[in-house]
Amino acid sequence: MSFRRWFTASILAFAATHPAHAETDPHSYAQPGVVSVRALDLELEVDFNQRELAGTAELALDWHDDAARSLVLDTRDLVIERIEAAAADGTTTAAKFTLDERDAIFGSALRIALDKAEPVVRIHYRTQPIASGLQWMTPAQTASRKHPFMFSQSQAIHARSWVPLQDTPAVRFTYTARIKAPKGLRVIMSADNDVAHALNGDFRFEMKQPIPSYLLAIAVGELAVRKTGPRTAVYAEPAVVTRAAREFADTEAMIAATESLYGPYRWDRYDILVLPASFPFGGMENPRVTFATPTIIAGDKSLVGLIAHELAHSWSGNLVTNANAQHMWLNEGFTTYVENRIVEAVYGKDVATMQLVVDDQELRSELADMTPNEQRLVTDLTGIDPDDGLTGVPYDKGRWFLRFLESRYGRDAFDPFVRAWFDQHAFQSVVTTDFLAFYERELASRHPGKVGLAELDEWLHGIGVPANAPVAHSARFDIVDKAAADFLAGKLAAKKIPARNWVTYEWLRFINALPEKPTVDQMKALDQAWKLTGTGNGEVAFRWYVATVRAGYADARPQIATFIQRIGRRKLILPIYEALAKTDEGKQFAIGVFEKAKAGYHPLTRGSVAKVLGIKD
Ligand code: BES
Ligand code: ZN
Repeated sequence: MSFRRWFTASILAFAATHPAHAETDPHSYAQPGVVSVRALDLELEVDFNQRELAGTAELALDWHDDAARSLVLDTRDLVIERIEAAAADGTTTAAKFTLDERDAIFGSALRIALDKAEPVVRIHYRTQPIASGLQWMTPAQTASRKHPFMFSQSQAIHARSWVPLQDTPAVRFTYTARIKAPKGLRVIMSADNDVAHALNGDFRFEMKQPIPSYLLAIAVGELAVRKTGPRTAVYAEPAVVTRAAREFADTEAMIAATESLYGPYRWDRYDILVLPASFPFGGMENPRVTFATPTIIAGDKSLVGLIAHELAHSWSGNLVTNANAQHMWLNEGFTTYVENRIVEAVYGKDVATMQLVVDDQELRSELADMTPNEQRLVTDLTGIDPDDGLTGVPYDKGRWFLRFLESRYGRDAFDPFVRAWFDQHAFQSVVTTDFLAFYERELASRHPGKVGLAELDEWLHGIGVPANAPVAHSARFDIVDKAAADFLAGKLAAKKIPARNWVTYEWLRFINALPEKPTVDQMKALDQAWKLTGTGNGEVAFRWYVATVRAGYADARPQIATFIQRIGRRKLILPIYEALAKTDEGKQFAIGVFEKAKAGYHPLTRGSVAKVLGIKD
């Protein structure tokens, strides 16, 4: 066997012997090998009084096994009223169905028995107020306090709580929808939103590019709109929309930069919907309309890397999709890599490098507290709630792996390779083996000798960060590090720290340089000089608040209470709850705040906080 063939054979054998490339999705009851959903048509009425969506979901099916008679869908807490099967000639018949017992993580399989492989099935159903993928908000929870608000968060496996479907990213479908909502409110979906749509209570949508279920999204509320470019706009509550449009003014520049690296943007418009602060994530890459937390509106564009991230998903994730959550690094690692390339192109190398250095450092400290299995890029998530598997590993270890490849092959070879990965797998679902085979064919075999198999294996299946990981270095951080060391040694007064023009990442570096237990005097001095307590910057705030808790610096408590009560983004508040929970007194304080906050929290946030505090919510 020639060396090349040996190499190919061994890379594929290596991939095959690693169990995680199993093609079935451990988080779905669907059987896409038997039958798959090709198109979805939704007709739903939004009822804020009952806190429910009610209507029909019509599924157009592709049967892959002619003998099959049964369609298995994912649901969670749906009330199924009746199901009809429609034949090719349009005649409908009632279909029998059973709903399995509810599994706490995966919900209930809906088993529909058909007389023959019918092309269309129509399900009459309603959601329940506890739907895990929807947050229903009272007017008091919105900025204007005038109208109710509702939004969805379908990833990872919450689409099933508002639509009966095959809730696996191994399946893609197009969709249409007709949504009835109270007049005066705007309905947004991950589809063809029209900035000029009348607020007449009757919205129709079409999504003509096929998407996986986790990208199905809806939001309803009092939403104003501002155009920010030829194919970009911002939707937000009226009180927020002007600030939001200013913060996100560079969106078109980001799209253009990404297109020049990785090829055309394939989703027509790219809008941003700014949600109320209870949104449990920073951002969600719903196609054509990213959903975002208002906590990234810092006033100086310093946190718009998050928009770069969600935009990057338009290539990595939405176009080329991990077939199940075990290969999430193909979505989030690629996206974090692309995000940094966008930031570099639009805001310069200095800013991009600072981001890398902070992320590398924080990944290393996160890994230090993780089990070996959690540290692996490709993982076995059988029986595990995918919401619990959310760590920096798929994001930053994934991104670091790609930077490692970039450093070995050089951008001249690596950039076209990444672009070809997106082009050749567009609108497909992929697993790590697909990546390895493509890598071998398009990169390794063309530039032999750059990366060894053992190195690849260590990145994908090893623990920690491999010793060969490229080290990012920021000269601006040398100044920050010196200031931190001098301040901590008592050689530099807090007000003499040269921070007047620091950007967010310099502050993050500084706060991360504080010891596990800073003294109360140190915290007080920093606060007096730089007013960190109460900062409007969420990334600075949560790191600072964790440090104040560790230091036992109680002056920050009122602002901590305000912060964790108002904000639902888990990344920003869970570390604070965790730090508080370490002492009895802190835990009592945290429980007190949670009791007040929980009615306004998203179901996901509520569950996560209760878990951290070890209480039932
Ligand atoms: N797709 C994710 C959010 C997600 C992942 C939801 C897994 C549910 C399960 C989104 O793109 C994301 O990564 N958001 C981050 C943004 C950050 C890394 C810039 C967030 O919300 O913090
Ligand atoms: Zn992401």
